[in-house]
Amino acid sequence: MNSYSPIGIFDSGFGGLTVMKEITEALPHYDYLYLGDNARAPYGSRSFETVYEYTLECVKALFQQNCHLVILACNTASAKALRSIQQKDLPHLAPHKRVLGVIRPTTEVIGNYTQSRHIGILGTAGTVNSGSYLVEIEKFFPDLVISQEACPMWVPLIENNEYLSAGADFFIQQHVTRLFDKDPLIDAVILGCTHYPIIENRIRHFLPKPVNLVSQGKIVAHSLKDYLLRHPELEQHCSKNGKRTFMTTDQPESFDASARLFFGSAVTSHHLGL
Ligand code: DGL
Repeated sequence: MNSYSPIGIFDSGFGGLTVMKEITEALPHYDYLYLGDNARAPYGSRSFETVYEYTLECVKALFQQNCHLVILACNTASAKALRSIQQKDLPHLAPHKRVLGVIRPTTEVIGNYTQSRHIGILGTAGTVNSGSYLVEIEKFFPDLVISQEACPMWVPLIENNEYLSAGADFFIQQHVTRLFDKDPLIDAVILGCTHYPIIENRIRHFLPKPVNLVSQGKIVAHSLKDYLLRHPELEQHCSKNGKRTFMTTDQPESFDASARLFFGSAVTSHHLGL
């Protein structure tokens, strides 16, 4: 076995770093390789075909770096590309490798965060329009009443470091208000985009009442820990030197300047040309 076989973590841009932060805290011994497709972010408003094509390309790149397990730390890619990759591509591309997403682990536990049984989902247009959350939640908590709100401006504002501006507040308030106008009984809200923890405080500021804001990082980390325990055949392929490597399809200098905010500590990335 090659001694370096990191767990791959993928996002369209910086958002997946909020998940990687929690995963690396929960499972520090493994090696991790992050890939942000910053050159083509955001994915949120792109078609199914495009998100699938871009995501598959990035998954293949992570496989080439000897990742046996790849986490799509991106709701949009999880919603629009994961199933096709798992069912159509993996069997001939790499039958012993695995690609996992962030929607399933979140939907498996969301019923534990609500008392009113009315929940809200904030996400990109791609995630919301895919209906993936509705389908997955139905499997685990069919009693839940779900309202969704697409927030197409949020990722561009975050990626461009404008999320604390008055302009950002306008759009944050607008979508939070629209969600609660749809259903005032909501008492738990999924931050269904891995970028959103960065603006969690601003979202909270505009909530009409105290509500459980559910970020995915810890949930995904817990689920990965459990997955690795249940899949020793895959776990044994993951190398354990505590190494973290970062790749971006855009400029490493600008990636490093912004990544710290999302990851919580300094990051030095390399460019990956696709
Ligand atoms: N972090 C991605 C998600 O969770 C952002 C999507 C985008 O690139 O618009 O959906």
